[in-house]
Amino acid sequence: MDIHRTKSDMRATRAGLARDGATIGLVPTMGFLHGGHMALVERARAECDRVVVSIFVNPTQFGPGEDYEAYPRDTDRDLAMLRDAGVDAVFLPDAAEIYPEDAETVVEPARLSRILIGRLRPGHFAGVATIVTKLFNIVGPDAAFFGEKDYQQLRVIRRVARDLDMPVRVEGVEIVREADGLAMSSRNVRLSEDHRRAAPVLHAALEVGRAAIEAGEGVTAAGERVRRRLEEARDAQVQSVDLRDAATLQPLRGTPDRAVVMLLAVRFGDVLLIDNMVAIPKEAA
Ligand code: PAF
Repeated sequence: MDIHRTKSDMRATRAGLARDGATIGLVPTMGFLHGGHMALVERARAECDRVVVSIFVNPTQFGPGEDYEAYPRDTDRDLAMLRDAGVDAVFLPDAAEIYPEDAETVVEPARLSRILIGRLRPGHFAGVATIVTKLFNIVGPDAAFFGEKDYQQLRVIRRVARDLDMPVRVEGVEIVREADGLAMSSRNVRLSEDHRRAAPVLHAALEVGRAAIEAGEGVTAAGERVRRRLEEARDAQVQSVDLRDAATLQPLRGTPDRAVVMLLAVRFGDVLLIDNMVAIPKEAA
């Protein structure tokens, strides 16, 4: 497995990997890998001839006072996991390699990046869209793989790729959960023992919401049920509960007749957890 710290080395390796028309799959990550990331790698391996993984904790997607410094890192462990998984190359740059001191160009879908999580974390999706655009330009993948846990992120990246005519297929991969329902996330290790015990409430609340929508309840009532279930967990600070059109992320009213995505953001101490689930109302089934 090749490990590259510079853009020029990565580009040179990319050219070699793509010899004889081999297709390249990219899995962009911020490291501290878990089963969710490995599911992305597996999908990339199934769909592409060569797999490149990037590990870069991107400073521009963290706001002031967010957990950039505290974001968990363990590069040796990450590399061992990727080697075992048969990854062909890893791109492991530092911030100075990625962002020239006077870098000033930002990629941002103007509307989609400022709703929902974009309201809670201003500037977050501009940071994500810019780094992903750069990674696409450096690695030149045929397909790139992202987790459905970051539901809005995946839509933002698809919008950027479409709007800017990027020749890359953006694929979503299903959420991978712990046995108790908690969605896998690098941030889970930052939860205290009590908060880790309480955190599966996100999944439990989503199941309550799904049952309500599937039984024909309106979005307001279903959303209230979800919020009440979340509030049963001690220390859960509910940041947002949004029920939206699963395809467009636009608000819905009344009894939905199309797939609904339920998007949660809940803080335990200083750890922000997000999760989501799609519910198909009887009307749309
Ligand atoms: O989902 C993540 O880990 C990051 O937001 C991404 C897509 C690697 C961009 O930094």
